Amino acid sequence: MTWQRPHLLDIESLSAEEINLVLDTARAFKAVGERAIKKVPALRGKTVINLFVEPSTRTRTSFELAALRLSADVINFNTEASSLKKGETLKDTARNLEALNADIFIIRHSATGAPHFLARFLRGSVVNAGDGAHEHPTQALLDTFTVREKKGRIAGLKVTILGDILYSRVARSNIWALTKLGAEVTLCGPSTLVPRAFEQMGCRVTHNVDEAIRDADVINLLRIQHERQRKTMFPSIGEYAALFGLNKARFAQTKPDAMIMHPGPINRGVEIDSEVADCGRSVILEQVTNGLAVRMAVLYLVNGGKGPHEIAA
Ligand code: CP
Repeated sequence: MTWQRPHLLDIESLSAEEINLVLDTARAFKAVGERAIKKVPALRGKTVINLFVEPSTRTRTSFELAALRLSADVINFNTEASSLKKGETLKDTARNLEALNADIFIIRHSATGAPHFLARFLRGSVVNAGDGAHEHPTQALLDTFTVREKKGRIAGLKVTILGDILYSRVARSNIWALTKLGAEVTLCGPSTLVPRAFEQMGCRVTHNVDEAIRDADVINLLRIQHERQRKTMFPSIGEYAALFGLNKARFAQTKPDAMIMHPGPINRGVEIDSEVADCGRSVILEQVTNGLAVRMAVLYLVNGGKGPHEIAA
C-alpha cells in the first residue's frame, strides 16, 4: 500500500496497514540518520510551521530537527510573543501563517480537535502534535516503533499502561495503535483516573498495580496531567507514588525482560523512581531518538511521499 492522507490528525482513523507503513518509513529514515550525511532533499523548498500553543520539549524539537533533516524551512511559532496574546483567534493566526505560503502546520493545543479544525480550512497539511486529552499520534507511533524494534513484534505482546489514563492523549493514541496491531493492552491506575469505560476501547482495566505489571512485556508509565485536572483525583502525590509508582520493589516483581517506557516529561519519585528510569531496561531516551525518525516519516508522507520504497538505502 501507499500513503494517501494529506494530514495526520489521529491514530483512531488509521488502519493497521497505515500504521505499519509509517513505522516502515521511519525505519528507512532511521537508517538515513546513521549515515555520515543525515540530510535528504525530500522537503526542499517547503515551509513547516511549528505551531505549539502548549509547552513541549521533545515533540517540538524533534519535529524541528525532522523538518531540517528533510531540508525544509522551519518556523517555530512563539506563542508568548504572538498576537494570540492580543486576542487573535487560532483560525486567524493559522490563516495569516498560511498567507506566508506555509506547507505543513504542526499543531499542539490544549483544545481537543484543534488540529481537525485547522485541517478543515487550511490548504496545507496538518499534523497533530497533541490536542488536549484526545490524541498524540506521533508519540504512539514512536512508542510502537520502539516496541517493534526492541521486541521484534507487537502482536501478542502484553503492554501495561500505568498512570493517569483519563487525562492522557498519549494513552488514547497508544491504545488505538497497540490494539490495532494486536497487542493485549492493560490499563492501571487509581479508579478515578482509569474508569471502566476504557474497556470499550478493547483494553483490560485493573486497579491492582502488582497484578498489572507481573506478566507485562512492556510497561509504559504516564505522569499525572495536573494541567488538565479540574479537581483532586487522589489524596496526595505521596500516596499516588506509594500505591502506583514503579519503585525498586515493584520493578523487582516484573519479568526479567520487561521493557520500561515513558513518553516524558518524567516526574522522578512519583510515577517512576530514578533507579528504574535510568536502568538498563528503560528505553525512555531511545523513544526520544526514535521520535526523530518517526516524525521525519510523518512529514515526508503527509507531503506526498508514498512509503519506504522511495527512500534510498
Ligand atoms: N512526550 C511529549 O510529548 O513530550 P513534550 O511535551 O516535551 O513534547
